Amino acid sequence: MSLAAIEEGLGTCWIGEFKEDKVKEILNIPENIRVIVMLALGYPAKAPAARLRKKLVEIVAYGGWRSWPPGVPVSFLGGSV
Ligand SMILES: Cc1cc2nc3c(=O)[nH]c(=O)nc-3n(C[C@H](O)[C@H](O)[C@H](O)COP(=O)(O)O)c2cc1C
Repeated sequence: MSLAAIEEGLGTCWIGEFKEDKVKEILNIPENIRVIVMLALGYPAKAPAARLRKKLVEIVAYGGWRSWPPGVPVSFLGGSV
């Protein structure tokens, strides 16, 4: 949806931090439905430059966990796993 929005000249922002109860109340969403994320959609005020991305090999693991570079624990949110 984000990529399709960009094609249409729009921008999006994932919103994962919100009060689910309040959102459900405002939008009249049934009790048994969970709202896990929202997507803000609109015309962006500016177009930020593309950011540097890690290579897929650095962030994707197949068949089980492995650290990158091999043997070095991956730091995540300040801790290490
Ligand atoms: C799962 C998820 C939840 C997010 N929740 C929020 C949010 O609550 N508020 C916010 O301002 N941005 C939120 N974002 C947007 C990120 O802060 C960031 O702007 C966006 O992911 C673009 O950066 P990226 O391309 O490096 O992921 C969220 C992004 C993701 C993927």
